[in-house]
Amino acid sequence: MSPVTVRRYTVANADAMRELGALLGRTCQAGDVMVLTGDLGAGKTTFTQGLGVGLGIEEAITSPTFVIARVHPSTGVGPDLVHVDAYRLGSAVELDELDLVADLSSSVVVVEWGGGLVGGLAESPIDVSIVRSDDDEDETRIVTVTVTGERWDAALVQGDPLT
Ligand SMILES: Nc1ncnc2c1ncn2[C@@H]1O[C@H](COP(=O)(O)OP(=O)(O)OP(=O)(O)O)[C@@H](O)[C@H]1O
Ligand SMILES: [Mg+2]
Repeated sequence: MSPVTVRRYTVANADAMRELGALLGRTCQAGDVMVLTGDLGAGKTTFTQGLGVGLGIEEAITSPTFVIARVHPSTGVGPDLVHVDAYRLGSAVELDELDLVADLSSSVVVVEWGGGLVGGLAESPIDVSIVRSDDDEDETRIVTVTVTGERWDAALVQGDPLT
């Protein structure tokens, strides 16, 4: 059994959120599926922008809310990034039923609001949960990252260990 690692990060602002995304993006591999959980405006798309940087995606990543999914081709040898916003999808829809114009097994798939959707897509999805402060003036986000496997050890060494 691969080890499960849980790390918690205190993320001060949007740039720090992009840095955390980039950190994870540098360790992602084709076939990885990442689920982003957090309220409206928590920072899921901001995190995904950093993920794209870490993967070497050069085009701008914006919220895909009105298109459900967008494919960002890699500019190098790395995997493409498939960015899905499942907010308006019924829970009955499975992600692999979406007619995505991408080979998911050769991409990194990141799904905002994907908690109930990614079931069949990956054995061990990467889980990123973002919680904002009750105080609207406070930009701090608490981010909990759950990953499986030893390849994450070096990338996540600076997080607060929860396991
Ligand atoms: N620490 C932080 N981390 C992330 N975003 C932050 C932070 N502080 C402020 N922000 C701002 O909060 C907003 C987050 O918006 P974003 O679109 O990333 O959220 P979201 O979770 O994707 O929302 P939605 O559910 O609507 O898709 C951005 O305007 C960003 O600049
Ligand atoms: Mg978003």
